[in-house]
Amino acid sequence: MKILVLNGPNLNMLGVREPDIYGRSTYTDLINMIKDHCDSKGIEVSFKQSNHEGDLVDYIQQAYFEKYDGIVINPGAYTHTSVALLDALKAVSIPAVEVHISDVDAREEFRQISYVSKIAVKTIKGHGFDGYIEAVDFLSER
Ligand code: DQA
Repeated sequence: MKILVLNGPNLNMLGVREPDIYGRSTYTDLINMIKDHCDSKGIEVSFKQSNHEGDLVDYIQQAYFEKYDGIVINPGAYTHTSVALLDALKAVSIPAVEVHISDVDAREEFRQISYVSKIAVKTIKGHGFDGYIEAVDFLSER
């Protein structure tokens, strides 16, 4: 089982950005937490983060050529705007779980639209960092 954890714009700023919404733990803390979990379950995991939409498309395409079994994706703000990410996920046909640290449904109206949700096999919202662990487990048990 080989999983890619892909994070979009501003998620490298975890711990600094809006701590009331996203908490005080950092992106490195997040990666370490997921890595430890995957190690304990014998799941191979890789991590990518970018602030650029095209880079995220490239990483999704690479996941196809590198034969990943699943993608955990938090597209950040591109969730609400990006047809390109939706098309990339459709192109590769790798099961993807969409994760949002915050409960996007309880926030501004513009956050309630998700293009990625149209292809995601599951969407997890508002469970904090634990949402990523739930996503990994969902993909590995699938
Ligand atoms: C987010 C929610 C998005 O609306 C926001 O733009 C983010 C993070 C989340 O994890 O809660 O960057 O995806």
